[in-house]
Amino acid sequence: MTKFNPLRTLPGPAGYGKGDVFVLFGELFGRGYANGLVDEARKSGMTIIGITMGRRETDGSLRPLTDEELVESEKVLGGKIINIPLEAGFDMDRSVSGIAPVDQLKGIKSDAWDSAELDWAAIEQSRMAGIARFTANLAKVMVEMESLIPDGVNVLFSHTMAGGIPRARILMPVLNRVFKGQGERFTSSEVFWKTDLGKLCSTCFDEVTANTFQHLIDFSRPVRERNESSGKKVAYTAYGYHGCEVLIGDVYTWQSYTPYLQGWAKMRLEEIATAAWERGVRATVFNCPEIQTNSSALFLGVEISLYPLLAALQREGGGACFERVAAACSELLKEGTTIQGLLVGADRYLAASLLKPFHVFSSWPQHNTPDQSAFMLNSATSMLEMNKDSKNIVCAELSRAVFQAVGRLIHRTSWKPGAPVYWLNHDIVARELVAGE
Ligand SMILES: NC(=O)c1ccc[n+]([C@@H]2O[C@H](COP(=O)([O-])OP(=O)(O)OC[C@H]3O[C@@H](n4cnc5c(N)ncnc54)[C@H](O)[C@@H]3O)[C@@H](O)[C@H]2O)c1
Repeated sequence: MTKFNPLRTLPGPAGYGKGDVFVLFGELFGRGYANGLVDEARKSGMTIIGITMGRRETDGSLRPLTDEELVESEKVLGGKIINIPLEAGFDMDRSVSGIAPVDQLKGIKSDAWDSAELDWAAIEQSRMAGIARFTANLAKVMVEMESLIPDGVNVLFSHTMAGGIPRARILMPVLNRVFKGQGERFTSSEVFWKTDLGKLCSTCFDEVTANTFQHLIDFSRPVRERNESSGKKVAYTAYGYHGCEVLIGDVYTWQSYTPYLQGWAKMRLEEIATAAWERGVRATVFNCPEIQTNSSALFLGVEISLYPLLAALQREGGGACFERVAAACSELLKEGTTIQGLLVGADRYLAASLLKPFHVFSSWPQHNTPDQSAFMLNSATSMLEMNKDSKNIVCAELSRAVFQAVGRLIHRTSWKPGAPVYWLNHDIVARELVAGE
């Protein structure tokens, strides 16, 4: 396992400028992590290039974006999108006999998901077909990209891809019980993970969350070698998650959301960066704090670790930055509730003795238990209820602050990356926010 390697010192300035190129390897969604890094690329005058996952038609076929979708996506990104579908994973790719993993999942009854048996030979054929499809399209993307990236400029590749839950009706209620079930509805993530459905998810997560980073590094080799040989910098960054230090009491303490089933894929991502680094490629995984995005919406409770960022802001200098963020958050709270009340609630949860066994770095990622799940879900709900409007919550304000700070930290660190894996904990995020005010 990767050694815990927190970034403790604010990075120096980056030297990217006009003409240098930023490549976003993943799509940009409104509240996602990538926004922070895209903002930095834009501010430094870099040319921005993006890709698309493509879209699925109702018959299941994968297509590029329509002209209209392309215009809209390019407007959001502020750069050109290479319109060749790069959806990773293989849930809809067919085996030799024409059966995709989602077809195999179709027949499973809701009360028999835990005993369902899948045809693993067919799944392996689908996996290989998915890789062949993805890499064939990636080769075409790279031909276009090579013509868009001039020689003699610095290039920063940002990998954001994560996901891979097979798009089958049976999985959503099961995963809802794993992530949000308590009492009679509690479902053990360990039980799920050991079923054929769990094993399929695990394989899909590896392909989407981790192996795409390897493909990116491999297929961009010509650009890397060309630009490095003219003395320029080519760096790769990826967003990881491997727990995060937040203030518990007054001590920064490593903790994690449980059950983080993507954890094994995220460790694979770290291994890919480490192996590339050892071959001289400047690839770095940045393990980032928990925030609320489209991708984390399924994980009720993940946002509890975000609240102590307010305490970290105070600890790291406070001042105008803390005042501004705290005022924006206070506006969103119901009458009679306060930031202090929110912080007390988060600390009561994070410091609870029930969670101590889950705050062990070397045991990560851990599975859920009935007590831990109920405690997390009830604590999360009571804190979310402190917001006036469930659609406009404190977590959104804090998430935005985090992805902006993380974008700035990654942008500058990538100019002189010192290691293949870093943790960006609340201490450095808060210091970056305070320093940037
Ligand atoms: N949200 C968090 O709390 C958190 C914490 C640490 C790290 N991260 C990581 O940050 C990165 C961005 O995630 P986010 O939370 O900002 O959410 P997001 O939904 O904005 O981003 C998810 C990304 O994954 C891509 N993607 C999803 N499925 C894909 C597929 N099948 N093929 C190709 N691309 C696919 C999307 O295009 C998008 O770029 C991810 O790697 C995520 O694991 C998130």
